Formats: sequence, structure tokens, C-alpha cells
Amino acid sequence: MVDVLRIEDLIVEYTTRRGVARAVDRVSLTLDENRTLGLAGESGCGKSTLGRAIMQLVPYPGKIVGGNIYLNTDHDIPWKKGVIEKGDIPILEMNKDQMRAIRGDEIAYIFQDPMTSLNPMLSVGKHFIQIQQAHDSDIEKDAALERAEEVLESLGILAERVNDYPHQFSGGMRQRVMIGLAIVMKPRLLISDEPTTSLDVIVEAQILEELAELKEQFNLTMILITHNLGVLAQTADDVAIMYTGRMVEIASTETLFESPQHPYSQALLQSVPDVTKPDKKLAWIPGAPPDLVDLVPGCMFHPRCPFAMDICKVEEPELLESDSGGLVACHLYGRK
Ligand SMILES: Nc1ncnc2c1ncn2[C@@H]1O[C@H](COP(=O)(O)OP(=O)(O)O)[C@@H](O)[C@H]1O
Ligand code: SF4
Ligand SMILES: [Mg+2]
Repeated sequence: MVDVLRIEDLIVEYTTRRGVARAVDRVSLTLDENRTLGLAGESGCGKSTLGRAIMQLVPYPGKIVGGNIYLNTDHDIPWKKGVIEKGDIPILEMNKDQMRAIRGDEIAYIFQDPMTSLNPMLSVGKHFIQIQQAHDSDIEKDAALERAEEVLESLGILAERVNDYPHQFSGGMRQRVMIGLAIVMKPRLLISDEPTTSLDVIVEAQILEELAELKEQFNLTMILITHNLGVLAQTADDVAIMYTGRMVEIASTETLFESPQHPYSQALLQSVPDVTKPDKKLAWIPGAPPDLVDLVPGCMFHPRCPFAMDICKVEEPELLESDSGGLVACHLYGRK
């Protein structure tokens, strides 16, 4: 199995007047080819920052201050004065031009709000032409449009709508257009940041199903970011749970849903509405996630954890292999 992406000890910080918020704190991950990793956790825990760091698109005042990210590619990538590289490319050493060459082509990102990413003055077809010509200036307009129609059709949009403008589409259709624009260059890695959050549940289910089909069709490796664990049950192969910028549990989806190890994962899962048991009371997690500029010592979850022990208040738990086969950062496990 090929590791498409390897993240090692990544640290991303936002320096604000209130202090430094470490939104991604020493995160390490590997992503196997043609698998979907679900990235979950409450709002503000660092999911988008991690996703954007992979593209070197962390917004100001955020900065990647440590770690490495390697992308494994089988394409030829222009690299350091005419040298063409294949294999593991260190993303954080790439300059702007090199990043531009791999964005879309190797790694694509679907943002949460399609209206802010689509230009209202351009037809959908024109968006597709621009993206394809930016990566390959030889591609003819007609060929680019033909490809756009193919991609739109694979997403359930009639080919003739290629001439329509973004405002002529419903929210769900616009999100499909965004997905189409992300995959038209056949990227190796697709990162989708809450791609269905603003949609109703039926459209959401359809789009998630289409994403799963595209993954097979295009041999995509995916990172699916969401605050909704229910979304991941059907779509992800593996799940990583984040809390205050740190990974607290990483496991296969089956393992995570059947036997979550970390108390935070357990609480998140109990908060997922179960459609088969509408009367089940939701066990919302008490308290709010801590303020990232004013963190507690020890385990970040201790003020909210029903199992907190003395050690939890002073010593940070390491991310270690758990009995269930995943990784967990909690003093309840992994201690010899
Ligand atoms: N533009 C910003 N300015 C200052 N701090 C930010 C900014 N964006 C994010 N942060 C900090 O990074 C944390 C993680 O944000 P984000 O990655 O957007 O989380 P998520 O996607 O999980 O909701 C926030 O809780 C906040 O402390
Ligand atoms: S380390 Fe302690 S406080 Fe943190 S989740 Fe585990 S038991 Fe709870
Ligand atoms: Mg986010």
C-alpha cells in the first residue's frame, strides 16, 4: 500500500493580540491510497487549519511553524531548477509556483461555501475551462468544455447546464459544481471541508454517495472534514478525532463506531442523532472546548471528562496504540 500523504509533527499557530493559538499541535498522520480519512471534532478544534496546511493555504495570521508534509506522487513535478521529482515530495519546502502546479492537479480542496469560491460573473463552463487551462495551456476550449460536461453528468447535472451561471443553480447543485471543479484535473488527493454542511439531509446523502462513487472512479484518496460523525459512518474508511489541535484517537471507522476508546470520541458518538431511535436522549458533551490561547495543563479534555484522574491534570497523554488496533491519547489506556 502506498502512503499518498505523510504528515509528521505538524504545528500551525495563529498569533493574535490575545496570544498564540496553536490550532494544529504536533499532528502526525499517514494516508493510504484510495482510502477516505474522516477528520472530526467540535468546531474550532483545528480541522480546517490542518486541511489547509496540506495545501499551504493557512489563512493569515496563521503560520506553519513546525513539522513536515510529504506527498507521494507518480506524476512528474517541476522541482528545484529543472529537476523533475517523483515519489515523496516535501510540500512545506515548495515555493508558490510549485504549489500552484500541484494544487488541483495533485491535491484539490473543496471549500465549505461554494458561493464564495465561484465567480458569479462566469458561467460554470468558463470555470471548468479556466481550471484546465491553468494546468495545461495546450488544452483547447472545446476539449475543456467536453470534459466539463462529462464531469457534470457524472455528478447528476445535465450537460447543457454548462452554460448556466452559479446563481442559476440550487445550493446542492452548486456544491456538486464545486466537487466537479475539484476533480476535473484528476487529483490524487481530495480534501473536502464540510462539503455538505449547508445542505439538507437528503441532498447531503446524495452528494456523499456521489463522492464515494467518484473516489472509486478516479482512484481518489480523500480527507473528509466534518463536525458531524454521522456523515463519516457511511463514507470514511478511517476516522481521526481532533481536540484542541491534537489527535486524540485514530482508528478504522468500524472500530471507532463499535468501540470508541477515547472519552471524547465516546461523547461525540453519543451526541450523534440515531434515526433508528428517535426517542433516544442526546448526551451532549458538557462544557465548551477550551480557549486555544489559554490551555489547561495535562490532558486538554480533563475539565470535561467524566473519567479524569489526578495524572490527567498534569501529564499530557501520548497517542499510543490501543487494544482495539487504533491509536488513542488517554491515560486510561496504553500504560504498561
Ligand atoms: N483567522 C484566524 N485568526 C485567529 N485564530 C484563528 C483563525 N482561524 C482559526 N483560528 C484559531 O484556530 C482554531 C482552529 O480553527 P479551525 O481550523 O477553523 O477549526 P475547525 O475547522 O475545526 O472549526 C480556532 O479555534 C482559533 O483559535
Ligand atoms: S487522559 Fe484522563 S482526562 Fe483525558 S480523556 Fe483520558 S481519562 Fe479523560
Ligand atoms: Mg472548519
